[in-house]
Amino acid sequence: MKNKFDLITGVAGFIGFSLALKLLKKKKLVLGIDNLNPYYDVNLKKARLKILKKYKNFTFLKIDLTNDSILKKKLNKKRIKSIYHMAAQAGVRYSLEAPREYIKSNIIGFFNILELSKTKKIKHLIYASSSSVYGANKNFPFDEKNSCTHPIQLYAATKISNESMAHSYSSLYNLPTSGIRFFTVYGPWGRPDQALFIFTKNILNKTKINLFNYGNHTRDFTYIDDIVNGIEKIGKSIPKVNKKWNPKKPNPSFSKYPYQIYNIASNRKVKLTKYLDILEKKLNMKAKIKYLPLQKGDVPDVRSSIKKIKNQLNYNPKINVEIGISRFVDWYKSYYNK
Ligand SMILES: NC(=O)c1ccc[n+]([C@@H]2O[C@H](COP(=O)([O-])OP(=O)(O)OC[C@H]3O[C@@H](n4cnc5c(N)ncnc54)[C@H](O)[C@@H]3O)[C@@H](O)[C@H]2O)c1
Repeated sequence: MKNKFDLITGVAGFIGFSLALKLLKKKKLVLGIDNLNPYYDVNLKKARLKILKKYKNFTFLKIDLTNDSILKKKLNKKRIKSIYHMAAQAGVRYSLEAPREYIKSNIIGFFNILELSKTKKIKHLIYASSSSVYGANKNFPFDEKNSCTHPIQLYAATKISNESMAHSYSSLYNLPTSGIRFFTVYGPWGRPDQALFIFTKNILNKTKINLFNYGNHTRDFTYIDDIVNGIEKIGKSIPKVNKKWNPKKPNPSFSKYPYQIYNIASNRKVKLTKYLDILEKKLNMKAKIKYLPLQKGDVPDVRSSIKKIKNQLNYNPKINVEIGISRFVDWYKSYYNK
């Protein structure tokens, strides 16, 4: 296995980059793929790649996952152990503006990854799902045992589809797959379309912040290092055929086939206004706020259960929002010379 790659898709993105950096530091051989699309500032993606390219054990290929023939051609001779599929068209709100991008990257792109996993006979496919799959569900805390049949936007629908598609390959080809539902990830090198990034930028520039749902959202904000630790733990735990699964009472979080679903979150519910308060204190500046109603497609409250990953994989998130926000602001100021 020594000369086989861990393939990370979306490696120039926030989570893919952070995972790659951790694996590279552990001397793993990492093959990264990204199409460097312009959904947000491409310079930020290039800056992340510049850091990864300093490692001799890193190889980068610029490939669009929707292009099946290029994907096959470029990976033809590459030996791959596991795939960490982090590439996707992310973002809830943008799925109302550009739904086709979600079908292309999240459905066609995901299908191409499943086919690749099948032909390369990889050991484990680990892929990013999202807390948004819980949709209209209000059965708090969100547990993997809940069925996810009521998405409230297309982004969530594509992620639920990914979980179903993965199950069909686990069943047909005995492909071990683990889907990870991330809950609002934040931290250094984060995404410019996310709340913390926009709030920090606007407070420093003294411009207004749009606070939807009048700031009453609650989220299970999860610090990036806690996410990467969780992904690593899941990566090491390859799902097996499981005879304990009861087809008469089907638990959607696992299967008789090699298939698992995990939440990764901080397990701490934080109101958006509190998140903003902590940020204002760290910046020692006050935000100018425009209060607005709930946006279409937005889930007002999110709280996760992490019992499964805690009990099965001994996962313990460590970073609270005070520390996490402070680290983000320090990174933001140094990256943008503020
Ligand atoms: N960040 C969060 O809070 C969060 C929460 C829930 C789920 N997720 C999921 O986690 C994954 C990673 O999210 P992120 O925050 O790092 O997003 P990101 O946008 O920073 O990273 C995604 C990367 O994938 C690349 N990409 C997109 N489509 C591609 C394609 N067709 N071919 C090749 N590359 C492509 C993009 O260029 C980008 O660099 C995504 O699947 C996302 O939906 C993220």
